[in-house]
Amino acid sequence: MSERVHIVEVSPRDGLQNESVFVVTEDKLELITRLIDSGVRCIEAAAFVSPKWVPQMADAAELCARLPSAEDCRFPVLVPNLQGYRRATDCGVREIAVFSAASEAFSLKNTNAGIEDSLERLREVCKQARHDGIAVRGYVSTVLGCPYQGKVDVRKVVEVAVKLHAMGCYQISLGDTIGTGTPKAARDMLLAVAAEIPMPALAVHFHDTYGQALANVFACLEAGVRTVDASVSGTGGCPYAQGAGGNLATEDLVYALHGMGFDTGID
Ligand code: HMG
Ligand code: MG
Repeated sequence: MSERVHIVEVSPRDGLQNESVFVVTEDKLELITRLIDSGVRCIEAAAFVSPKWVPQMADAAELCARLPSAEDCRFPVLVPNLQGYRRATDCGVREIAVFSAASEAFSLKNTNAGIEDSLERLREVCKQARHDGIAVRGYVSTVLGCPYQGKVDVRKVVEVAVKLHAMGCYQISLGDTIGTGTPKAARDMLLAVAAEIPMPALAVHFHDTYGQALANVFACLEAGVRTVDASVSGTGGCPYAQGAGGNLATEDLVYALHGMGFDTGID
């Protein structure tokens, strides 16, 4: 049997969050249904962030209340603070994803809080989630470059990842938010984090601004990672990371993985 690479599909959240035209809930649900039909089993469905900051995610509660009931399918949602956590769990969400960054400047633009303050908010969220039996995934953004401060110190990536892991995040997704990473840098960054956190608890999340995402995944697969985030059709971008291109396209990733002999469970 071939080895499984787990794909975390982020199109309903990361894929759509930067679209200027509001995508109606019905269409988001249709996208999610089609993803399930093609075998995707982990779909980041929405974000319970401030609708003033990201209007595209304003229907998160309605969407989560209407998610299809698919056996063995997980629907994590992005949560920035306790207020978002309560909104999410009020509509039955069982898994969340929290996010911080390795760049102080990006953290401030993205969440109106520096890294330490954002981690403090997330510590409260994780504590509550642990109490409620809610699974938590963690993101570190700007792991290979920042749109505001440029270079990012890999030691900061490791430090933030370790803190999120210690708070109880079962997996840390390492996000190249603006897609400036290249394969060697991606691999070196992953290995630096993997020296502190076991590889099965790590994932990679590449935006494809310079066409490097698939090559970066390949370098990270060689280094041992087995969970990869992707977004169907390469949709995506972050409203607080100017110039960020779309995410790695799920269909291209699946095609490459199957060609390499990996199994994904996705048609
Ligand atoms: P703030 O303005 O500092 O929040 O925003 P606040 O606590 O001062 O509250 C201000 C107002 O926001 C209040 O409303 C709150 O009720 C409301 P008002 O009294 O003015 O009417 N509010 C909320 N409303 C709904 N849900 C909430 C919530 N929290 C406060 N959860 C905050 C701080 C974090 C909320 C804001 O900065 C925010 O929502 N940021 C989210 C930005 C975002 O979604 N970015 C994109 C996702 S991250 C990403 O794409 C990267 C990733 O893909 C990985 C990678 O690629 O690297 C994950
Ligand atoms: Mg992203």
